[in-house]
Amino acid sequence: MNITVIGTGYVGLVSGVCFAELGNQVICVDKDPEKIDLLNAGGIPIYEPGLKELAAANRVAGKLSFTTDLRNAVRRSDLIIVAVGTPPLPSGEANLAYIEQAALEIADAMNGYKIIAVKSTVPVGTNERLGSLMRGRTGMPFDSISLPEFLREGSAIQDTLHPDRIIIGADNPGAAEAMVELHRSLTEHVVVTDIRSAEMIKYASNAFLATKISFINEIANICEKVGADVTQVAEGMGYDKRIGPSFLKAGIGYGGSCFPKDTSALIQIAGHVDYEFKLLRSVVEVNQDQRFNVIRKLETIFNGELKGKTVAIWGLAFKPNTDDVRDSPALEIIQHLLDNGVKVRAYDPVAMANFRTLFGKEGVIWCDGALETAQGADALCLLTEWDEFAEIDLGELQTVLKRPILIDGRNVFKEENLIGTEFIYYSVGRPSLN
Ligand code: UGA
Repeated sequence: MNITVIGTGYVGLVSGVCFAELGNQVICVDKDPEKIDLLNAGGIPIYEPGLKELAAANRVAGKLSFTTDLRNAVRRSDLIIVAVGTPPLPSGEANLAYIEQAALEIADAMNGYKIIAVKSTVPVGTNERLGSLMRGRTGMPFDSISLPEFLREGSAIQDTLHPDRIIIGADNPGAAEAMVELHRSLTEHVVVTDIRSAEMIKYASNAFLATKISFINEIANICEKVGADVTQVAEGMGYDKRIGPSFLKAGIGYGGSCFPKDTSALIQIAGHVDYEFKLLRSVVEVNQDQRFNVIRKLETIFNGELKGKTVAIWGLAFKPNTDDVRDSPALEIIQHLLDNGVKVRAYDPVAMANFRTLFGKEGVIWCDGALETAQGADALCLLTEWDEFAEIDLGELQTVLKRPILIDGRNVFKEENLIGTEFIYYSVGRPSLN
């Protein structure tokens, strides 16, 4: 198919590259000329393993191009995929200004029948609203499709080319069939639903995954008090097929650009129809508090006296294999430490630049490597489970720290790793070791 993808953020860029890889002719459009110049020069504005190489191969093969010219791209395509951002407003609701703008620009550019598929995560009813907006602007025929995206940052290409399922929300069976055809080679689970249900599937899926995480984090907090080990509990639970083993890793809670935004948006969506989503409210509340698990441990260790201590932080990204720091627990943890007079030394293998830009405050000592960060610190907190940290020589680490205190916010280390060291080791939902 001839496809235009509007928006070269995570979802748009990965989708565009993967649709080209699948043999389609793809034009990726973005308003930001600097981004387009970078992409045309072979660069990639995000850190995503394998994406740069796949984009380059498809550009060279003539299947993928980048432009700021939305009008020309739309006119040359049968399918327009909308993947612009829907960031949260202060109320928690999704900001639809960008997607509405994109819909109007598409309408103005139309020169014949098109399928308009929305990949951005949008509140239930948005596709219909965008359809009406467009009909008010153009007499050209089109069909709307809700095509929610389930890729994860860090494994975006794998998730896109080998998805668990594809959801196609459509009113028109002909347009639905064209979308089924486009995705047929990817998975046997292509599910066609009505448009509103497809929009809801995306929110319900992210809300459910967030619920699993907050659930296991609460179990972890109880495990700490009763002397059980949450990793063993999660393993024992996960063998039950009805529960499943994934998303039961206890830690300092979820972050990123999706779960926090989508859980807040779903609470708002429910509120608009006079329904209070009590369970999801608790999920958000538990998650918000879970990051302070690390702080509470530091306070216990230092008898409530954090002032003047030096704390090393390993990991700033919201999870490993990404440079994304949006809603990363590290933001609030570091802020809390600084507010309490702690000297913070911090390091992340790839997310340093993004973190410094977003955090935007002075007072942190930014370091160039894991061991350098730990140098002279009273305690070390691991906040993101990068392989680099898991593979560190703990014997050597111990020699550079002022005190051998390790707070592992992601349960990276095992008891056997610590044998022969003097570490006082705290993790989440597992007995402390010292
Ligand atoms: C998430 C969903 O997994 C994707 O399916 C969805 O497409 C995406 O949001 C989106 O809506 O665009 P992502 O935010 O990239 O993907 O990251 P995840 O791998 O889901 O992790 C989210 C957060 O949960 C991370 O902070 C991670 O550390 C945390 N997490 C995950 C846990 O604390 N425990 C777990 O067991 C799993």
